[in-house]
Amino acid sequence: MRLDRAASIDDLRAMAKRRIPRFAFDLVDGGAESERNMRRNIEAFEEVEMTPRYMVDVSEIDTRATLFGHTYSQPFGMAPIGMLNAFWPDADLTLARLCKRENIPYVASSAASTTLEGLAEAADGNGWFQLYVSSDKAVTDGLISRAEAAEYDVLMVTADVPAAGKRDRDIRNQLSVPFRFTPEVILQLMANPTWSLTSLKHGKPNIANYADLLKGATSYADVQKTLITPGFTWDDLARLRARWKGRLLVKGILHPADALRCAEIGCDAIVVSNHGGRQVAFGPPTIEALPPIAAAVGDRMKIILDSGIRRGADLMRAKALGADFAFTGRAMAYGVGAGAAKGADRAFEILKLELVRALGQLGEPSFRELVAEFRTSC
Ligand SMILES: Cc1cc2nc3c(=O)[nH]c(=O)nc-3n(C[C@H](O)[C@H](O)[C@H](O)COP(=O)(O)O)c2cc1C
Repeated sequence: MRLDRAASIDDLRAMAKRRIPRFAFDLVDGGAESERNMRRNIEAFEEVEMTPRYMVDVSEIDTRATLFGHTYSQPFGMAPIGMLNAFWPDADLTLARLCKRENIPYVASSAASTTLEGLAEAADGNGWFQLYVSSDKAVTDGLISRAEAAEYDVLMVTADVPAAGKRDRDIRNQLSVPFRFTPEVILQLMANPTWSLTSLKHGKPNIANYADLLKGATSYADVQKTLITPGFTWDDLARLRARWKGRLLVKGILHPADALRCAEIGCDAIVVSNHGGRQVAFGPPTIEALPPIAAAVGDRMKIILDSGIRRGADLMRAKALGADFAFTGRAMAYGVGAGAAKGADRAFEILKLELVRALGQLGEPSFRELVAEFRTSC
C-alpha cells in the first residue's frame, strides 16, 4: 500500500507490521501483561462524545497551542520513546527533525538510541529531555548536567517506572541482553529484507546515553538497574526541582493527589500518562483519569496528556476534558515504521488534518478556545 492511501494511523500501523520483523514490531506495539490498559486507552477515547454546534464560521481553523512561552503549530508533540531505532533505523533523528520543521515539541528519551546531544541538535530548540532517575545518583546527575550543557529548557522526569513493565510479547519473543540471534529471529529477518538490510547498514541500535555504562550488561536486570530505580520519591523530586532551573514536568501521573503534590513542589506541568499501557494492565485509561486531576489542579500548573491518541479528534477530547496539550508515542512511530521519513510525515499529516476537520465539524475554530461545554458523555 502507498503512504498516501493510508487513511488513518491504524493503516500506518498495519503497513509497519508488514515491514518489520515481529520481535521489533512487538517491542513498540506491545503493552503490559494482558494489554488491557493499552486497549482501554484507545477505547475510552472513542467513548467520549462531543456534540457539534452549527452555523459558526469555521473557514479559518487555528490549531496552535502555547506552552511555556512557545507557540507550537499543533497541540501535540512527540513523546519520548526509548530504543526506537530498533523499530526503524534513524527513527529518533527522523522524528526530531520533523518536530523542528513542523514546530512541535520533541521529547528525547533518556533511553533513546541517539545521544541527547544529537537529538538536541536535530530538534534545534524544539527539544525537551525526558529523565529516568537511576539507582546510581552519579548516572542521574550526569544526565542532568549533559541536558543542561545541551541547552534543553524543559526536563520531563518519568515517575511511572518504579519497576520495568512486564511485556508478555517481549518474553515470548525471547528478547534478551545481549541480543541473541535465535533461529526464529533469523527467519523473521529473512522475511523482512528491507528492514534487515537497512538495519545492517545503520548498525545495531543501542541505548546511546548509557552506551559505556551498559557495555558489560549481560541481562535486562543490569539494564534496569542503570536506567531506573524503585527508590525515586517525593524528596528526590523536590531536590530535582531545586537543581533544575528550567521547566520541570512529571510524566506518568494518574492520581489527583499526586498531581497536587507536583504543583506544591513547584513543577510546571504534569503529564497524565500510563506509558501507553506499557507499565500495568490494571490502571485507568488516561482520558478517564484526566477530569478529576483537572478539577483538583485548576490553573495551578499545565496539564499534558498522552496514551492512546490515534485520531485528531482525540486531541480535541483531551482538551475538552481539561488537558492543555498532548503527546503521541506510537502514532508517529508507526508512521516511521510504515515509510521512514515520508511515513513520519504522513502520520503527522493525518493527525493534523483530522484535527482541523474535527474542529470544523464541532463548530470550534480555535483549539485554544475549546471548552468542556461540547462534552456530552465520557
Ligand atoms: C516503545 C516505547 C518506548 C517508550 N520509551 C519511553 C521512555 O524511554 N521514556 C518514557 O518516559 N516513556 C516512554 N514510552 C512511553 C511514551 O513516552 C508515551 O507515554 C506513550 O507511548 C504514549 O502512549 P501511545 O503510544 O499510545 O501514544 C515509551 C513508549 C513506547 C511505545
